[in-house]
Amino acid sequence: MAESLVDWLALREPADAAARSASLTRRIASEIERHGPVRIVDLGAGIGSNVRYLTSRLPRPQHWLLVDRDAALLEEARGRTAMAGAVETCEMNLGPVDSLQICSGRHLVTASALLDLVSADWLDALARQCRAAGAAALFALSYDGRFECRPAEREDDGIRALMNRHQQRSDKGFGAAAGPDAAVYAERAFAAAGYYVQRERSDWILDPDARDLQHQLIEGWARAAGEVAPEQVSMIAGWTTRRLTHVEAGRSRIVVGHQDLIAWPRQTLEAER
Ligand SMILES: C[S@@+](CC[C@H](N)C(=O)[O-])C[C@H]1O[C@@H](n2cnc3c(N)ncnc32)[C@H](O)[C@@H]1O
Repeated sequence: MAESLVDWLALREPADAAARSASLTRRIASEIERHGPVRIVDLGAGIGSNVRYLTSRLPRPQHWLLVDRDAALLEEARGRTAMAGAVETCEMNLGPVDSLQICSGRHLVTASALLDLVSADWLDALARQCRAAGAAALFALSYDGRFECRPAEREDDGIRALMNRHQQRSDKGFGAAAGPDAAVYAERAFAAAGYYVQRERSDWILDPDARDLQHQLIEGWARAAGEVAPEQVSMIAGWTTRRLTHVEAGRSRIVVGHQDLIAWPRQTLEAER
């Protein structure tokens, strides 16, 4: 079982890699291939899963800047990312929009599993900052409010509604989170800033053998639901017990809705020529 954020991010990395849109990744790779070395910033980089997925799929040479507010995660990322000299890290709270200056001079701005944590205003500022830098963008694995469990339990819909409400109440320093609306909002923000945008589903499809990840998910959802509706604690506890029994019996299948999004500038600004 995952005992820390490092363990959780490591546990989800294979499911993330399997879910991501290969076609959107190829499309954005072709957008940036004229640059060399390609300068990339990864926002909310965690232990570096996004770098490990993208390194072999983007043009080389690459220079990466990994940004996160958690120094321990960045240290872990350095240890797990064997691209000596090509990966720098920066400990920074990305909440204040001024911090987005870090995107200046980058050819690609990327993030994975981050957009659902940020606010609509922050997404507007990110789109404007990317446009000022003339950067392309790739945002993977934004949770979009869907999950489906098999076998179904009658409380699944109610738990999902509570979980989604919890997401929108959370504030990680970016203001009230866009939560499940993040990818749709980002699409609008980047289009308004002068980008072509493409979006595709990148759902986790967790088969019965993904026991640890399913277990963590169910416990996380139950915790979130309990924080939003403490008066429903016994309903939530019953649901959790039955869902975990399905997992332990090897008959649980869970699909979690995610979205990948790419954006590239419509035309070159005068300043970029
Ligand atoms: C769900 S994790 C995703 C990590 C990584 N991108 C991945 O795909 O595994 C979200 C990350 O955002 C970082 N984060 C959250 N709030 C932040 C903030 N205000 N400033 C910088 N990083 C933040 C967390 O420390 C965490 O590493």
